Amino acid sequence: MNDLWYKDAVFYELNVRAFYDSNGDGHGDLRGVIEKLDYLVDLGVDCIWLLPIYLSPLKDDGYDIADFYAVLSEYGGLNDLKLLISEAHRRGLRIIMDLVLNHTSDQHPWFQAARTSRNSPYRQYYVWSESTQKYSQTRIIFVDTQPSNWTWDEQAGQYFWHRFYACQPDLNYDSPAVQEEMLRVMRYWLDLGIDGFRADAVPYLFEREGTNCENLPETHAYLKRIRRFVNENYPGRILLCEANQWPEDVRPYFGDGDEFHMGFHFPVMPRIYMALERGQRQPLTWILERTPPIPEDCQWCIFLRNHDELTLEMVTEEERQWMWQVYAPEARMRLNLGIRRRLAPLLGNDRRKIELANSLLLTLPGSPIIYYGDEIGMGDDIWLPDRNGVRTPMQWQNTPNAGFSSAPPDRLYAPVIAREPYTPVRVNVADQVANPGSLWHTLRRMIALRKASRLFGWGSFTWADAGIDSVAAYWREEGPQRLLILNNLSESSHFVSLALPEVLGPEPIDLITNSKLTPASSSRLELELGPFEYRWIRFDG
Ligand code: GLC
Ligand code: CA
Repeated sequence: MNDLWYKDAVFYELNVRAFYDSNGDGHGDLRGVIEKLDYLVDLGVDCIWLLPIYLSPLKDDGYDIADFYAVLSEYGGLNDLKLLISEAHRRGLRIIMDLVLNHTSDQHPWFQAARTSRNSPYRQYYVWSESTQKYSQTRIIFVDTQPSNWTWDEQAGQYFWHRFYACQPDLNYDSPAVQEEMLRVMRYWLDLGIDGFRADAVPYLFEREGTNCENLPETHAYLKRIRRFVNENYPGRILLCEANQWPEDVRPYFGDGDEFHMGFHFPVMPRIYMALERGQRQPLTWILERTPPIPEDCQWCIFLRNHDELTLEMVTEEERQWMWQVYAPEARMRLNLGIRRRLAPLLGNDRRKIELANSLLLTLPGSPIIYYGDEIGMGDDIWLPDRNGVRTPMQWQNTPNAGFSSAPPDRLYAPVIAREPYTPVRVNVADQVANPGSLWHTLRRMIALRKASRLFGWGSFTWADAGIDSVAAYWREEGPQRLLILNNLSESSHFVSLALPEVLGPEPIDLITNSKLTPASSSRLELELGPFEYRWIRFDG
């Protein structure tokens, strides 16, 4: 068993509701995911991240949990989950799921009990106040809908604290009982065979007056405790940190290798889009230079899109305005401090740009996460509320309901994308799998190349000077293996000329085309890069 599997794994994030409906009720389900496991194996991913599958009133698509020990019935039951885990493991796939530590649904029995009486043992499970003045230095995250982090509860006769929707009261981590409860929750799912957790919204566990209530030492101390718990009882299982913060603030979440195994690199994501739009590598060089090293056994997680809005929290106000202008020209495309669109529409459905973005995703330091549907260039529906527009049914075929479900179309949990050029007529799995020239095949090839070499997950990363700022060029190196990655971020062709280290052998190979290159000399590589062209060039010393 390789406990460090996550260092070079390719992750795939999926929404059970949106993936495949096995029983024709209009909602995707766990059995549906089982039916599609071979598809995921074929694509080449290593680990699936399931969005929340817990019992929930679904006011925040399952991030509002009413019972940490039950599966939402539309998704199936515990037995379906067990079967999914064993079928995945049989195919060499791993599965992680969301762990929502920070809050529950207001429908959770703990909150229901807590609000009824100050003497309830559950009262202390939540954070209460007589006034809204407490913790006043704390920002609001859902700025579009939440006027305050405090909401008055009539029944409780007090305000309660919430960092997200008012239907998601924050748990009180000063309560030892809460700390124990969440360890129990973890134990339950880990005992079922889950390979780890994507830990939701971790910066906000503790509150302290006079701070912004994020990234507090008390929070880190508790997170270290859950890591010890995993190490001692479940070696090889992982904790992936969702902290939408600057790299220097995410860095402590890795601790000395004693906190999270992995952490999302949020700020690199918008900068991939900035670099592509400006045709300049500076946004990327800037953020990676600002990214501190992490312990050897830890890993960044990088992504182009996920189930939320493309967040613009980790950019300057000026950059945010510019990103909105170019990537979200219509008001409906914006949400909170972000953009609620999918990868393909964001990049104008330009195949060259979509491939280039994926070239960056798969070669920058960290393990990549692919968001379901982006591997075929699915579109979004900005007419749906909240973030639902990027959570529409997976498009399997050019048949009714995109082959997602046999239910009548009006019974689907959400409509299939109905606007060109993204309808199932043009965008679907079956056609792309059948066509060797499709985006799906290109991505599959890139994933296979990545998996054939340790250097993507383990290798060092060094910027190379390609003589022009439009080209993001870098070396990835591990032992005797060296890979030069060239990404032309601009719409023009560029001639690049690169100095080669002397130690390199004579015969570089272009991995993407699987052909030999002939450098002008043993000390320089010169070549022409077409608009948005990328090259992965291997030198074996
Ligand atoms: C995370 C999730 C998001 C959810 C929020 C509150 O940011 O990604 O979907 O709304 O936490 O749980
Ligand atoms: Ca179903």
